[in-house]
Amino acid sequence: MADPAPQLDTPTDLNRNDTRTVADALNTALADCFALYLKTKNFHWHVSGPHFRDYHLLMDDQATQILEVTDAIAERVRKTGNTTLRSIGDVGRRQQIRDNDQEFVTPDAMLAELREDNLKLVETLRDTRERAEAAKDTATSSIADDWIDQAEERAWFLFEASRKA
Ligand SMILES: [Fe+2]
Repeated sequence: MADPAPQLDTPTDLNRNDTRTVADALNTALADCFALYLKTKNFHWHVSGPHFRDYHLLMDDQATQILEVTDAIAERVRKTGNTTLRSIGDVGRRQQIRDNDQEFVTPDAMLAELREDNLKLVETLRDTRERAEAAKDTATSSIADDWIDQAEERAWFLFEASRKA
């Protein structure tokens, strides 16, 4: 990551190189949140079948929760003197969670894919948390715990909703 423009160089007592490592991980997590937000909305819009109402509403709740996290992630990056995402193109270059542009996806496949994606996000957030601890950026590591808890909850709901008995 390049040095921020001088006007964007927020004062911080944390080590610049350390926070840059954290910011890189945060920006990856942010791109993944936007990718996961849109995929969750995509499935909310295109889900079909006998469980339509349950799945449609579950995915909407989850999309709202994911979108709420994005602002907090981006602002942690700025508070530690680094810069964050600026565009959908930026998201596309950084996201690790893959898009799903298929014409039709079965409800079971939707639940399974979102569950895996949320667990992938958990991995990225754990990595972010470890880097934050190493950088003595305790504010990031403690708030990352909440984001991890929420992603694990989403994976749990998706798992339970997919059970057949
Ligand atoms: Fe909707």
